[in-house]
Amino acid sequence: MSEKKITIRLETKDDYRNVENLTRESFWNVYRPGCMEHYVLHCYRDDPAFVPELAFVMELDGELIGQVIYVRSEIDCDDGRKLPIMTFGPICIAPAYKRQGYGKQLLDYSMEKAGEMGAGALAITGNILFYGKSGFVPAKTKGVRYADDPEADYFLIRELTPGFLDGVSGTYKDPEGYFVCEKDPEAFAQYEAAFPPKQKLKLPGQLF
Ligand SMILES: CC(C)(COP(=O)(O)OP(=O)(O)OC[C@H]1O[C@@H](n2cnc3c(N)ncnc32)[C@H](O)[C@@H]1OP(=O)(O)O)[C@@H](O)C(=O)NCCC(=O)NCCS
Repeated sequence: MSEKKITIRLETKDDYRNVENLTRESFWNVYRPGCMEHYVLHCYRDDPAFVPELAFVMELDGELIGQVIYVRSEIDCDDGRKLPIMTFGPICIAPAYKRQGYGKQLLDYSMEKAGEMGAGALAITGNILFYGKSGFVPAKTKGVRYADDPEADYFLIRELTPGFLDGVSGTYKDPEGYFVCEKDPEAFAQYEAAFPPKQKLKLPGQLF
């Protein structure tokens, strides 16, 4: 059989609903009963910190199987400087295609583009078993502490410009846009109600 064709391209307005549904399917019951990431993504497109040049979708023979978005963020340096960096996410792969290398391919491609756009470093809270394969290390080893949990091993960073973090000491806060569900639960509930019903389950390994 011939190899299936992978395409990574920028998302368009016509993709929005499908991308949000994919995100919902992929995150559902993974970190909490249900999920919020599809609404975070939905709202981020109108946020000034959103980077439309780095909002990618991945297709396998034309089928949407992955997405990632990037957001401008910053390190609050102990010397008072604000060092602009980027974060990303939600990033996801459709449930049927997880653990087949597609997530790494999408991440690595998008990070290359983020580097070309001038991002010096990327920060993310996530699983080192996945992100470590793409060059991320615990941020505290580079002098950057997660404001909510300074010793966190799951707060990760990767330089895109070698030496970008040399001499840096500071803290990082998740950008405000990641908290839209907590800020306006009613708007989230209304948005969620327009999707097909899915069962929320409490499962082992969930974080919340
Ligand atoms: C996380 C996610 C994007 C990874 O994409 P993926 O296509 O499944 O991952 P890949 O196949 O590219 O993984 C590459 C390597 O990373 C590691 N890895 C990936 N996911 C992992 C996991 N959940 N646990 C441990 N290691 C993992 C493995 O070493 C894997 O290689 P292997 O399968 O040969 O062992 C995808 O699983 C997903 O959409 N999950 C739900 C949403 C999510 O958690 N997003 C990230 C939020 S921070």
